[in-house]
Amino acid sequence: MSNFLTISDYEPDEIQNILDLSSELQTAAEPVLAGKNIAFVFEKPSLRTKVGTEAAINHLGGNVIHIDADILLSSGKAIPFTSRESLKDAMKNVSLWCDAVFARVYSHQTLKNMAGYSSIPIINALCDKHHPMQALADLHTLQQQFGKDKKLTLAFVGDANNVAFSLTELLLKFGHTVNFSGPEQYSWTDDKLSYFALLAVQYGGEFNTVTEPSKAVENSDAIYTDTFISMGEEHLYEEKIKHFEPYQVNEELFSKAGEHTGFMHCLPAHRGVEVTDAVIDHPNSWVYKQAENRMIVSKGVFATLLDGEGKATKKPSVPHLDKESVNGT
Ligand code: CP
Ligand code: NVA
Repeated sequence: MSNFLTISDYEPDEIQNILDLSSELQTAAEPVLAGKNIAFVFEKPSLRTKVGTEAAINHLGGNVIHIDADILLSSGKAIPFTSRESLKDAMKNVSLWCDAVFARVYSHQTLKNMAGYSSIPIINALCDKHHPMQALADLHTLQQQFGKDKKLTLAFVGDANNVAFSLTELLLKFGHTVNFSGPEQYSWTDDKLSYFALLAVQYGGEFNTVTEPSKAVENSDAIYTDTFISMGEEHLYEEKIKHFEPYQVNEELFSKAGEHTGFMHCLPAHRGVEVTDAVIDHPNSWVYKQAENRMIVSKGVFATLLDGEGKATKKPSVPHLDKESVNGT
């Protein structure tokens, strides 16, 4: 059964098919998910991913069933009488009633365990390492701005986190250039750098780590940042935050880029921390377009995974996404 856990195993044409289908389904009220039940389980808070995706599923005629994370996933603790049941039993049951599970979890391993026990697709709604649904929306946003053919340069300024990882691998697969600038102690590990270098060679893009954020944003078509402290890292706030001050995307940094350069952020933003009001509210800020595209690309993903008769009988044109690969997933 096909899952959507990471960007890693998708080829560019397969991703483009999803994005093109998303455009087709953007306004069409086609009930391609009629009769499908999609379980949502969220270990962490969410606005865009939860509401945007549920709205997309509703537009396509599907149903969402929310399952309390304590009911479905507490079994990961495997301590008798402190959790209800094993993850295996829980996932095998959900597979009997539902057509897919959309899950936001702390650990990527939880998604892999869920996929191992289920006979329906598992879709990653964000984990510690990846945010593939966000990356699809971001590429869709860039294609809306620049078309599909132009080779772009995106400067990612800030934390080497889940959002940065999925976005970087996706852009490299499309032959774009990514300039990364962030504090050395929170930058990419060597295995990730090797993976990015490999993707750059394979698909004709470029990945650069740039010490000075002002250099990273020069000649960029878009500047992207995300929170410096991700969900689950709150205890690291004091330790981390002091290293990130030079990486705030403010008017001064934004002015080093071109007139056409856009600002991107997956949201939620911490105004005054990683980005200033002047930048996020700038006419070149695309943050609300990105948020709108979260709903739109969800249509393409769920329609691809669940189209057909019965339970996800029509395989998407993408290979399995849950296998171990060079990116350490
Ligand atoms: N960008 C994003 O995933 O937002 P939420 O955390 O609100 O879902
Ligand atoms: N990096 C952030 C993204 C939130 C959408 C986090 O994981 O909290």
